[in-house]
Amino acid sequence: MMLTGPVLGTVLQLASASTQLFSPLIPQKVLATFNALPTPVKYPQYTDTTTGKWQYFTPWTWTSGFFPVTGYALNTRKSLCGGTLANGLGVADWLALGRSASTGLIGLDASHGIGHDVGFLSFPFVEELAVNPTNATAIAAINRFATALANRFNAKVGCTRSWDTVDPTDFPVIIDNMMNIEVLFHSAALTGNVTLKNIAISHADTTMLNHIRPDGSTWHVVEYNTTTGNVIKKRTQQGYSDTSTWARGQAWAIYGFANMYRFTGDGNYLATSRRLATYFLRNLPADGIVPWDFNAPLAPAPRPADSSAATVAATALLLLARSESTPAAAKPWSDAAIQILNNITALAWRPSWQSLLANGTVNMPANNSLTGIVYGTNSPFLRVTGRLDAYLGDYYYIKAGNDLISMSLARCT
Ligand SMILES: *[C@@H]1O[C@H](CO)[C@@H](O)[C@H](O)[C@H]1NC(C)=O
Ligand SMILES: *[C@@H]1O[C@H](CO)[C@@H](O)[C@H](O)[C@H]1NC(C)=O
Ligand SMILES: *[C@@H]1O[C@H](CO)[C@@H](O)[C@H](O)[C@H]1NC(C)=O
Ligand SMILES: *[C@@H]1O[C@H](CO)[C@@H](O)[C@H](O)[C@H]1NC(C)=O
Ligand SMILES: *[C@@H]1O[C@H](CO)[C@@H](O)[C@H](O)[C@H]1NC(C)=O
Ligand SMILES: *[C@@H]1O[C@H](CO)[C@@H](O)[C@H](O)[C@H]1NC(C)=O
Repeated sequence: MMLTGPVLGTVLQLASASTQLFSPLIPQKVLATFNALPTPVKYPQYTDTTTGKWQYFTPWTWTSGFFPVTGYALNTRKSLCGGTLANGLGVADWLALGRSASTGLIGLDASHGIGHDVGFLSFPFVEELAVNPTNATAIAAINRFATALANRFNAKVGCTRSWDTVDPTDFPVIIDNMMNIEVLFHSAALTGNVTLKNIAISHADTTMLNHIRPDGSTWHVVEYNTTTGNVIKKRTQQGYSDTSTWARGQAWAIYGFANMYRFTGDGNYLATSRRLATYFLRNLPADGIVPWDFNAPLAPAPRPADSSAATVAATALLLLARSESTPAAAKPWSDAAIQILNNITALAWRPSWQSLLANGTVNMPANNSLTGIVYGTNSPFLRVTGRLDAYLGDYYYIKAGNDLISMSLARCT
């Protein structure tokens, strides 16, 4: 374990952030992907493992918001860094590209089976409102997604439902769902409907109670019984085992609780996010590479990494750093974020691929089947290979770079 700081002891001599985070190759690759979007639109989710070529999925795939929101992220970067030929940002109108790519998501609703993923799908519209708060299309999309998520709330359980089940009394909630409830706050602010905000708070409080182990690690899935409201099972879906900690889930949780603090100011959420982050950092291996599951066996070596878990965690740690009230309290989190980004860059940066990063692990138990939507399948548990890059890894890599610049922790070049 090499990460240090107040969380873990001594003071770290921190290297500066890897230059790849601000490479002109990023806008170059993203623009090429924008220009290659199929008609009717489909979105990149992950790459082929050998050629690094994007695999495209329908708009009602849970990851479909991440590519459009990347246009907004590069628009943000252009406003932070300027658009020049040297930094690569000058080659496109990123806002126009993000807006245009978002149109494939506008008409989605529950009939498309998008379930709790409406939160992920809302991200481009949330960014649109940051640019233009009166865009009626974005407002309507956010409100429609929030209503769809609220319709999945069960008051007896206290959560919004993640996956649909054959037995309606079986009510699974995945830790990822902490990322989706943000849309409820946006819609509550737009409409004044306090119920939406209360649903988000109830979901977070129930998750805080049941998904987190005493050591600050998380279960991926908690199943509730809607008749009794009781927990009936705690298990994994994408992790190594029911008692292990799936790294991307842990990263979603750090972000989700820091985000709850951002929207409510409730210190319990901040304390929870810190606890989850402390587990994450204390359990990183000595090379600083985020494994796909903290408890997955080391052999056969190398134990697969998950670059998306790394970049989500880095972004989450930077949000946690911004939640702290003193620079001294923020520094260990931002130092750790930079270290995680540098270490994943050293491993996974792939100039020859269409994606920015390799070494993403989409769904280990399902073998990362390339033949369809890999999430939510009830595959038998298998510890086999399959390493693919998920677009969300690239998106959070860019977002983390933007956050570092706006937090004055890195320069544009
Ligand atoms: C409003 O937002 C939608 C969805 O994000 C986008 O497609 C559209 O271009 C925006 N309209 C304007 C006038 O900016
Ligand atoms: C507020 O949102 C909830 C959940 O979608 C809905 O049931 C309720 O009717 C809404 N209230 C108003 C006043 O629109
Ligand atoms: C939930 O509890 C009810 C009442 O005890 C029972 O009939 C039902 O089978 C349970 N559902 C699950 C998924 O365990
Ligand atoms: C990273 O991916 C490369 C292939 O792109 C693979 O050879 C290597 O073993 C992976 N390393 C880890 C730690 O996942
Ligand atoms: C991990 O990152 C830290 C901080 O940037 C660096 O000192 C260390 O050499 C990196 N380790 C590897 C294996 O890249
Ligand atoms: C995963 O891959 C193994 C080995 O190639 C194969 O035997 C198994 O059927 C696959 N499982 C799934 C769920 O695709």
